[in-house]
Amino acid sequence: MATDTIERTRAQLAVWREYVAAAGEQGDPYAVLLGAPENPYPLYEQIRARGPVSRSALGTWLVPDHALAGKVLRDRRFGVRMVSGERAPQSVEFDNSMLGMDPPDHSRLRKLTIHAINPGRMESWRPRIERFCDELLDRVLAGPARFNFMTAFAQQLPMYVIGELIGVPREHQPEMFALTRRMMHLVDGEPSLELVEDVSRSTAQMHAIFADIIARRRADPGEDLVSDLLPALAEEHLSMAELVPLLAFLTLGGVETTVNLIANALHLMLEHPDQWSAFRDDPSLAPAVIQETLRFETPTQQYRRVVQEELEIGGVTLPVDSQLAILAGAANRDPGVYPDPERFDVFRPRSRELLSFSLGIHFCLGAALARLEGEVALAAVADRLPDVRRIGPIRRRKSYIIRGMLQFPVAVR
Ligand code: HEM
Repeated sequence: MATDTIERTRAQLAVWREYVAAAGEQGDPYAVLLGAPENPYPLYEQIRARGPVSRSALGTWLVPDHALAGKVLRDRRFGVRMVSGERAPQSVEFDNSMLGMDPPDHSRLRKLTIHAINPGRMESWRPRIERFCDELLDRVLAGPARFNFMTAFAQQLPMYVIGELIGVPREHQPEMFALTRRMMHLVDGEPSLELVEDVSRSTAQMHAIFADIIARRRADPGEDLVSDLLPALAEEHLSMAELVPLLAFLTLGGVETTVNLIANALHLMLEHPDQWSAFRDDPSLAPAVIQETLRFETPTQQYRRVVQEELEIGGVTLPVDSQLAILAGAANRDPGVYPDPERFDVFRPRSRELLSFSLGIHFCLGAALARLEGEVALAAVADRLPDVRRIGPIRRRKSYIIRGMLQFPVAVR
């Protein structure tokens, strides 16, 4: 960055932080939420009490309501880009591939990728995921009785799966995971100049690794997403400038979310011993365990939309470029949709669609894979670590978007 840009960014970020702190002190629940409190759910209820759509003191429109969120996500008058092309001062410059595109570019990229991550092909992944779980649990059982479930298992499995899907060799995977951790800070709470710079450094490193993998696959194609996409690259339906961020986004979006689905599920099960014991007796409950975890502690608590043309919704008029935060963590506990929403209950009847994977044209491309990973992982843990128990306090990740843990100390003997 040029020196004047650095100084301007530093000043803008400082103003933004002060603005958020002042709004938080005045009791604005969204400003408090941005500070990534340990328990966001009471804040969602404060926001819900203000109506299905309300304006935060920071200017963002908040949607905690299940029905309204679904409407917004399916309405093409809401996009993901600012019509004016401006950028919020606190947002970190990052190419999040198709998730940051509106049609028609979005449709082209999504169509190309969907072949590889087609839900219809997911069952062929089950035996591979089972093999990865066995490999990891063999290692866990050969190690100390007490360990951090995050590093020993939850963080490893999704990296193995995405690595295999995309074609990232095992030897590159630990470095890849470390880079995703650094890049994910861009959605974690308070942005600082150091963070912005580190995100762009780690992004460049990840891009370089992918450029290298693409070059190797060109010389020697395999059975993976990169090899599948080479013809589209050759026929110019896809550019290198799009492919590299697509792979980086898949890694980020496919790993950092699924890690937390697996760990949040085990954490919730251990907090509810009767349900854990019922699951150990009947592994066919795995889909219900994952469904209820996705509802109760969704790894992706919120995402954004931008108004593309002036419109009215929920009784308010929103001008072009208004920003909306879809509060998935709140919509998944909407009392009008899920009776007794604050109760974790894997036996609740499977009800309306969740907001965890979004809806509409950006509906998560990896939803079926993520569910499958969660189900296989939990069943494998219940089978091979039947005595697993938490042995100390968890430490949560400081993020208002990603709901997950850094420390989850357990013992297995
Ligand atoms: C529990 C795990 C996961 C959660 C909670 C999750 C959540 C989400 C959400 C909420 C969105 C849409 C955001 C929006 O509408 O603005 C999304 C999009 C996406 N996800 Fe996931 N995801 C998960 C796992 C995965 C996996 C495993 C993959 C890849 C294999 C993946 C690939 C994608 C892609 C490519 C998009 C962009 C789709 C588009 O823009 O059309 N996700 N995900």
